[in-house]
Amino acid sequence: MNVGIIGTGNMALSLIKGFQVDGSHKIVCSDVDIKKLKSLKGLKNVKTTTQNIRVVESSEIIFLCVKPDTVSGVLREIKKELNFSKILVSIAAGVKTSFIQKLIGPKKKVIRTMPNLPCLVLKGVIGFRANRYCTLKDRKVFLRLIETTGKAFELKAEKDFDYLTAIGGSGPAFLAEYIAAQLVYAKSKSLNEAMARDIVFKTILGAVTYLDATKVSPQEFVKLVSSPGGTTEAGIKLLKNKKFTNIIVQCLDSASKKSVKISDKLVMKKN
Ligand SMILES: NC(=O)c1ccc[n+]([C@@H]2O[C@H](COP(=O)([O-])OP(=O)(O)OC[C@H]3O[C@@H](n4cnc5c(N)ncnc54)[C@H](OP(=O)(O)O)[C@@H]3O)[C@@H](O)[C@H]2O)c1
Repeated sequence: MNVGIIGTGNMALSLIKGFQVDGSHKIVCSDVDIKKLKSLKGLKNVKTTTQNIRVVESSEIIFLCVKPDTVSGVLREIKKELNFSKILVSIAAGVKTSFIQKLIGPKKKVIRTMPNLPCLVLKGVIGFRANRYCTLKDRKVFLRLIETTGKAFELKAEKDFDYLTAIGGSGPAFLAEYIAAQLVYAKSKSLNEAMARDIVFKTILGAVTYLDATKVSPQEFVKLVSSPGGTTEAGIKLLKNKKFTNIIVQCLDSASKKSVKISDKLVMKKN
């Protein structure tokens, strides 16, 4: 398949890495930054150009990977070359499908996506929503490509992007805060730093793998681990007293509300 990528920053690099797993794709990338394009030289099946329009001309599916405030300029530039059979995939955070459609004209195939940073290690979570002009085959083409970087989830409504952004987009950072707190504790007790890091990482990976494999609910898991009068019970009691669940719900809510605000601001700025 001929795959195009416009904008070759960090997220685009994760896509290229994933797409290369299947050796059959021919990838064409464009960027305004020649240094970035030079760094791609030599990668198998990857060609580069400074002209976005060339990417669209030679690709069946085009991934738009520029920053949100650059999207409208690029769309105006490539609009003519985007015919009804090409699939345009936007990874720009907060840029709504309706906004993209307005700029490129009616009846064109658009898939809005929201990848997260672990895509860089091909362990990402990607939310997506295809517009009504995308066929089942288009979805399959898209999924075959994107799922080389992680697991994709189809969202029912455009507003779901705001909730996905909170859980999947910002979620890794919230988990990193939790990890950092554990490491602060380990340091205060003079545990070996490297060993503490390893213990924390392996504990989280182990617990998540267990939950995922057994389908035991988190609440049941807590019960399983807590014996009456034991250590886990003591810690959980404190978390409950401090309203841990409430804090996390509020944290996610503030992230999704911010996502709505950013989205609205983008639309206002570009109209
Ligand atoms: N990073 C994340 O965790 C994450 C997560 C989800 C979604 N996203 C979305 O992914 C997109 C890319 O993010 P990123 O972090 O990879 O950004 P980035 O590193 O800034 O990459 C964007 C690239 O596009 C280039 N560019 C600017 N104007 C262009 C134009 N007119 N034509 C072609 N290329 C142009 C930029 O060059 P210059 O640097 O010279 O401007 C840069 O090389 C964003 O829309 C972001 O919202 C990112």
